[in-house]
Amino acid sequence: MSGQDRTDEMKAREEASIVQTYTRQPLFIVRGSGARVWDGNGKEYLDFVAGIAVNNVGHCHPLVVEAIKSQAEKLIHTSNLYYTENQILLAEELKRLTGMDRAFYCNSGAESVEAAIKLARRATGRSGLVAAEASFHGRTLGALGATYKSMYREPFRPLNEACFVPYNDVEALKGAVDQNTSAVILEPVQGEGGVHVPSPDYLRAARDISHDAGALLILDEVQTGFGRTGKWFGKEHSGVLPDIMTLAKALAGGLPMGAMLAAESVSEVFQRGDHASTFGGGALVSAAALATIRVIREEGLVKRSEELGAGLRSELGKLPHREVRGLGLMVGLEVDADCGQVVAAAREKGVLLNNTSQNVLRLVPPLVVSREDVDSVVKVLGEILG
Ligand SMILES: Cc1ncc(COP(=O)(O)O)c(C=O)c1O
Repeated sequence: MSGQDRTDEMKAREEASIVQTYTRQPLFIVRGSGARVWDGNGKEYLDFVAGIAVNNVGHCHPLVVEAIKSQAEKLIHTSNLYYTENQILLAEELKRLTGMDRAFYCNSGAESVEAAIKLARRATGRSGLVAAEASFHGRTLGALGATYKSMYREPFRPLNEACFVPYNDVEALKGAVDQNTSAVILEPVQGEGGVHVPSPDYLRAARDISHDAGALLILDEVQTGFGRTGKWFGKEHSGVLPDIMTLAKALAGGLPMGAMLAAESVSEVFQRGDHASTFGGGALVSAAALATIRVIREEGLVKRSEELGAGLRSELGKLPHREVRGLGLMVGLEVDADCGQVVAAAREKGVLLNNTSQNVLRLVPPLVVSREDVDSVVKVLGEILG
């Protein structure tokens, strides 16, 4: 059966068996390695989507695969009723990397945001949230309340909805944070909203405004974490230590894992039983996360993200465009074209891209991508946009 037939077959079977919440592209992926994936026909694609900013160390990195294999032979899951060492080693590593004090493990970005919202409510005794316009924090009921697009929220009201203010607007934040605010929640660079980079002072101002009102600052680093922006974490661009930080996506090299990190003074308000997750911090995902962090460090991927990202943005700036935005290898290209069509044309030419809206392409390749691969993606985009 040909690759196209297999794609058609998958589409039909998926439509008959899976809840239809996703808009999928006609591509059936069977294998991945480094910055590349292959379809059922053996056709190769340069993957500048990377599982939506998940595969920072590339697909099936040998060290991550080895860590998963050897851990799977020893212990996969036991629950949090007992001690296991990998999750402790990982918390120690995350503390060193972020400057935060304690970790709580979960299984996704939205869950890490849920944990953060609960902790902020517990720590302040307040329920209000302030979030940014164009924000995305996930689709569980708590996280959804802080996610901007009203078409995501509207069908699920009533929610505990945030007060939304324009991103990167200090005065608007000042006007919104009050005695009912438990936390201000912000992405250090907005991802789903179209790759928006704030001015360096914005997050510092957000922390001061929150603290002056007795509220907390939550930085959602689900997408910006682990080298994506050319620093280990997006917060480093502004030198801000938040009260709570959320992580997921790239954390475990492609396995589902999330973490909420908190400052000691905040985390100590959580009592035993206040929050939990059956799978959180399991031995297998924690081993994958430890290996992922090791790869990022040993292969110098943070620096690589900074350098390749700067080169990519500069080359994209030579193509027809409205704006090039981003930090490191988290890049947005706003164009006067229908990006749905650009994504489809690029896929035909063997390049996977993502668009966050009609006019914005988001490029978030694996940080292991080569300069030649970056150049060839720019060339393909040049052919399409030109
Ligand atoms: C900043 C941010 N927070 C939270 C989420 C939700 O993560 P998940 O899809 O793992 O629940 C995302 C997902 O794109 C995100 O970009």
